[in-house]
Amino acid sequence: MKIAAYSCRPDELALFEKFGKQYGVELVLIPHTPTLKNAHMAKGCQAVSVVTSPISAELLDLWHEDGVRVVSTRTVGYEHVDIQHAARLGIRVSNVSYTPNTVAEYTVMAMLMAIRKMKTIMTRYMGQDFTLNGVRGRELCRMTVGVVGTGRIGEAVIRNLSGFGCRILACDLQRKESAAALAEYVELEQIWSSCDLITFHTPATEVTYHLVNRDTLSKMKDGVVLINMARGSIIDTDALIDALECGKAGAAALDVVENEGKIYYRDFKDKPVRNRQMAVLQAMPNVIMTPHTAFFTDEAVSDMIAYSIQSCLAGIKGEEDPWQVNEIR
Ligand code: COI
Repeated sequence: MKIAAYSCRPDELALFEKFGKQYGVELVLIPHTPTLKNAHMAKGCQAVSVVTSPISAELLDLWHEDGVRVVSTRTVGYEHVDIQHAARLGIRVSNVSYTPNTVAEYTVMAMLMAIRKMKTIMTRYMGQDFTLNGVRGRELCRMTVGVVGTGRIGEAVIRNLSGFGCRILACDLQRKESAAALAEYVELEQIWSSCDLITFHTPATEVTYHLVNRDTLSKMKDGVVLINMARGSIIDTDALIDALECGKAGAAALDVVENEGKIYYRDFKDKPVRNRQMAVLQAMPNVIMTPHTAFFTDEAVSDMIAYSIQSCLAGIKGEEDPWQVNEIR
C-alpha cells in the first residue's frame, strides 16, 4: 500500500518514517502543497495525506484518474476539501482528531495573556521600561467565560477552566453531559450578553461564518475579551477592529485570522505581507496574534501523522473509519 503525503514539513519526516514502518506502508513524502501541476506525484498511490491547502474538484479529478481512492487531511478542520465532489468520485475523505489538550492549553494561555496584558508587559520589558502604568490585569476566577462549541477541544477548554473557579457558560447545538457537569449550557444570546471573555471552538461552516459581527458585538459586554483559536472566518475582522478601536472589545487573542491561508507558515522577513487587517491588529497593544500554532506540539503532530496513515489504510482496505467525513453512496 502506498500513500503520498503532501506539504510534509521537516519536523514531520521522522514521524512519517516511524509510523510508515509501524503500519507497513510505502510513503511518498512531498514537501510541496498539492496543486494541479504536482498532482501526478501521487500516481501509483491509493491514498494521499494533505493539510490545509485547497483540495479542489479539479485536483480530486486528477488524483482519481491516477488511482487515488482516499484523501486524509491530517487536520481537524476539513473545510478546504471538496468533500461532495470526492463522494461523487467515490473518494473517501477523512480528517484526524489529535489530542484536544494541545489547543485547549494554548487557549487558556492566550486568555491569561490577554487579561494580564502580557503583550504590553513583554514589549516594554524589551525596551527596559519596567513601569506598572497601564498594565494592571484582571483575575480569570472572577470572570464569566463563554465557550462557543463544546466538541473535544471546547470541552477540554471547559475542563481546564474549571480549575480556575470562573463561571463557565457553554453553547453548542449538541449538549454534552460531560461538559454540562462543569459549565452551564445557554443560548448564544446569553453568551453575548453575560460573558466577560468568549472563546470559539467551532468549525468553519456557513453557520459559523462571521458569528462575531457588528450586530453580535453590539450585544456583548463593554470591554469583552475575544479568543479565537479555531478559524478566522468566525470573526468579521473589520467589525472586530472597529470594536477594539472604540473600546467595545477590551482585548483579543487570535491564533487564526481571515485570509491567513497564503501567509501563515511562510517567512515574510524581507517582503510586505499583503493583509492590512493583520497589520492593524498586530499594531494594537491589546491584541495577541500568533500564526495558527495552537495545534503545534509533539503530541499533536505525532497523532496527526499516525491517525492520517491509519485512516488512509482503513479507506484503502474498505474498512470502517472513525475519521471519514463524507458519505459515499
Ligand atoms: C486543524 O487541525 O484543523 C488546525 O487548525 C491545525 C492545522 C492548521 C495544522
